[in-house]
Amino acid sequence: MSDYKNKKIYLAGHNGMVGSAILNELKKQGYKNLLYKSFSELDLRKQNDVEQFFELNKPEIVIIAAAKVGGILANDTYRAEFLYDNLMIETNLIHASYLNNIEKIVFLGSSCIYPKLAPQPLKEEYLLSDYLEFTNEPYAIAKIAGIKLCENYYRQYGCNFISAMPTNLYGPNDNFNLETSHVLPALLRKFHEAKIQKKESVTIWGTGKPMREFLFVEDLAEAIVFMMTDITAKDIYNNGISHLNVGSGKDLSIVDLAKLIAKVTGFSGKIIYDSSKPDGTPRKLLDVSRINSLGWKYKTELIDGIRTTYNWFLKNKL
Ligand SMILES: NC(=O)c1ccc[n+]([C@@H]2O[C@H](COP(=O)([O-])OP(=O)(O)OC[C@H]3O[C@@H](n4cnc5c(N)ncnc54)[C@H](OP(=O)(O)O)[C@@H]3O)[C@@H](O)[C@H]2O)c1
Repeated sequence: MSDYKNKKIYLAGHNGMVGSAILNELKKQGYKNLLYKSFSELDLRKQNDVEQFFELNKPEIVIIAAAKVGGILANDTYRAEFLYDNLMIETNLIHASYLNNIEKIVFLGSSCIYPKLAPQPLKEEYLLSDYLEFTNEPYAIAKIAGIKLCENYYRQYGCNFISAMPTNLYGPNDNFNLETSHVLPALLRKFHEAKIQKKESVTIWGTGKPMREFLFVEDLAEAIVFMMTDITAKDIYNNGISHLNVGSGKDLSIVDLAKLIAKVTGFSGKIIYDSSKPDGTPRKLLDVSRINSLGWKYKTELIDGIRTTYNWFLKNKL
């Protein structure tokens, strides 16, 4: 919708992997009235600072891609921080948006909000139907609170605040640190280093059987701009759900992912699966039929997205 083009859009978390992709997408689509601050300039955990920032800058639209994010180990170790930081960031942004008559919020959550043993593929309505996974429970609880804030600021005050739940993302600006990264960037780095060091094999944790879904972060950025312009709170909440899943709707095994990454990085050695290490959830796939029927679908095939990501890694990380 063209009138969004002149709106003042505040993008929280613009330096992150997701935020930087959204910023690029907004610029690519001709949005010029953009507002952003890094963590060092504005700590979103501080309510007074956030409220002053809104009063001073008067944004009209808010996209929330700021969060304390990490892998399993970080989530499990810094449990209080993951809960506190994320609750504070969301609560401050969503409440300040209400106080300042913000026209639209798109809040980003994550697929870890779903119960550990929910049926697959994960439909939006499975939220809160069973227990969460213990390791990232604090993060998931904070994200669920963010979704429920958006939903209930709509139900009580009529605010046009909505939430997107993306699947596993990958792409430029991802975290390639082997101790804290997600599976796809970790494998990219491992295979790349094995190739450079002429290693005969790469060992991967687990059996390689778990099935996972991945979405290229630039496709996610398009989905977020689409939700900002084309999806209203009514489209979501009046259909008995609280958020929209965003994914490719396609999954593959870790074995097949490893083969793709070996191909892209040019590693021709052996891939060994260490089945003494844990596998994690057997399958994690989002049901994306709702957002597809509303008009958005992923574009980038996994092999192409991995190539782009690997090229970015080669240019930026070595
Ligand atoms: N990565 C994935 O695979 C994935 C999948 C699904 C959903 N998501 C969701 O997407 C969102 C962004 O994730 P990401 O992967 O882009 O994470 P990221 O790269 O770690 O970026 C998070 C951003 O949040 C900002 N931030 C953190 N704490 C802050 C605070 N107290 N005050 C102000 N800014 C703060 C950071 O700012 P500075 O850089 O300025 O320090 C950073 O830019 C999260 O909600 C996450 O759940 C991510």
